[in-house]
Amino acid sequence: MNILIFAGSTRQESYNRKLAKAAAAIAEQQGAQATLLELADFDIPLYNADLEARGTPADVIRLKQAMHSHAAWIICSPEYNGSYPALLKNAIDWASSPVKGDALWSDGTLPFRNKVVGMASASPGGMGGLRAQSHLAPLLLNLQCWVTPRCHAVAHAADAFDMQNQLQRSQDQQAMQALVEQVLWAARRFQ
Ligand SMILES: Cc1cc2nc3c(=O)[nH]c(=O)nc-3n(C[C@H](O)[C@H](O)[C@H](O)COP(=O)(O)O)c2cc1C
Repeated sequence: MNILIFAGSTRQESYNRKLAKAAAAIAEQQGAQATLLELADFDIPLYNADLEARGTPADVIRLKQAMHSHAAWIICSPEYNGSYPALLKNAIDWASSPVKGDALWSDGTLPFRNKVVGMASASPGGMGGLRAQSHLAPLLLNLQCWVTPRCHAVAHAADAFDMQNQLQRSQDQQAMQALVEQVLWAARRFQ
């Protein structure tokens, strides 16, 4: 089973990037092959239909391919103003936009349909970014993803990781293990 893991942040010291790395390590421990995707590695402009009409950027196609080739995903999203960040929305909007005349990518939901997606978040606040997940879930469901019942929010994220960027609280470790396990469990049943 392969699993795609990415964060909705490109910040150097991002808690959600750390969480994504922790999730990838857990997935590998559970026998999966984890692909840690960095949105910073993708040159994706702000979505604009006029721009798109001149040709879908190559890195959008690369993102679609990465999403499509993994049956299971985990998204680690920051919370911005009670929701998920524009970076994540922009990437998902581009990835779900049909490429006119393309045999494969003219189907906009293809990269998303039937993916099993686990959500996690990390925030310096006490709610751990949970409200970002409550906005992200309907977007993913609209794109025909299967969002797992389990999720996790890492609260007080400034104290959550040790020097090696490992989760240091047992409740965070256990919840992330359970989340990864459920995502892999469900994705295996879809294959
Ligand atoms: C515009 C903006 C809005 C924010 N709104 C929230 C919020 O509603 N809830 C919250 O817990 N943190 C909020 N934060 C703080 C982020 O959780 C914090 O910057 C976090 O480190 C971002 O995630 P990252 O470390 O993965 O980059 C906000 C940050 C910014 C820049």
